[in-house]
Amino acid sequence: MGRMDNKPARLENLHTDKGKVPVYATGIVAQPWDDYTATDHDVWRRLYERQRTLLIGRASDEFLAAQDAMGMTPDRIPKFSDMDQALHDATGWTLVGVEGLLPELDFFDHLANRRFPVTWWIRRPDQVDYIEEPDLFHDLFGHVPLLMNPVFADYMQAYGRGGVKAHGIGADALVNLTRLYWYTVEFGLIRQKDGLRIYGSGIVSSKGESIHCLESDAPNRIGFDLERIMRTRYRIDTFQKTYFVIDSFAQLMDATGPDFTPIYARLATQDSHPAGAVLDGDRVFHRGSGEGWASDGDV
Ligand SMILES: [Fe+2]
Repeated sequence: MGRMDNKPARLENLHTDKGKVPVYATGIVAQPWDDYTATDHDVWRRLYERQRTLLIGRASDEFLAAQDAMGMTPDRIPKFSDMDQALHDATGWTLVGVEGLLPELDFFDHLANRRFPVTWWIRRPDQVDYIEEPDLFHDLFGHVPLLMNPVFADYMQAYGRGGVKAHGIGADALVNLTRLYWYTVEFGLIRQKDGLRIYGSGIVSSKGESIHCLESDAPNRIGFDLERIMRTRYRIDTFQKTYFVIDSFAQLMDATGPDFTPIYARLATQDSHPAGAVLDGDRVFHRGSGEGWASDGDV
């Protein structure tokens, strides 16, 4: 009996302010590579080929080059150990296999120590277009390549350290910091010489959002502003109403330089912004038409 005959080690569903969320065992697991089925490899291949084709000219040059440099290919699900070697040589990061989404503090602790948790299982064929929680494709195809970039790799570690700290400060600080992750690591855009490009993992692992974020009139595209982002709610069930655009990975890294503690204190006295708001002072690349936006449901 191979590992794939079992379900991921899910402990229970936990009730939170975001509804019921799955909670997984937090231990590190060896990738059960020999147990992946032909169907698993085929899901990887289909997703990889479709997204790579779509992402040429849409994803940042850094992202595409990093995938190639790591030796990520559509042929079969990559072995974490192979990816790990390339990553170690480039930036000293390590991949660790996990059962799924981790509790915040465990996740932050991994990042703070330059370990990136990757879900070992891949979605089913009927989930190719949408899955509500991160799987191997999202984590490995979406998140891991930019860890090859030294500046982005440092940003991820700084984020993890900031997370450990925010966790000690309180729930509101964590909300602020989570918005930063959401609007950069998951749904960020970057301005290249030849136009806006995607670097966020939530976008590059989604066919629909890869097109929507750059080509639709509906969403706002606004220049990166740390405190502005920390005040802005977001969407978990639909495409984003707003994407924030960085000029460079150095801009991200620089933004994490100051101590966030006084920022959290200031934000605690201010209302949050709706996901679709455009504010005075925003550097607007595109003002969204708002077409198709739900009127509620920002989190
Ligand atoms: Fe993610």
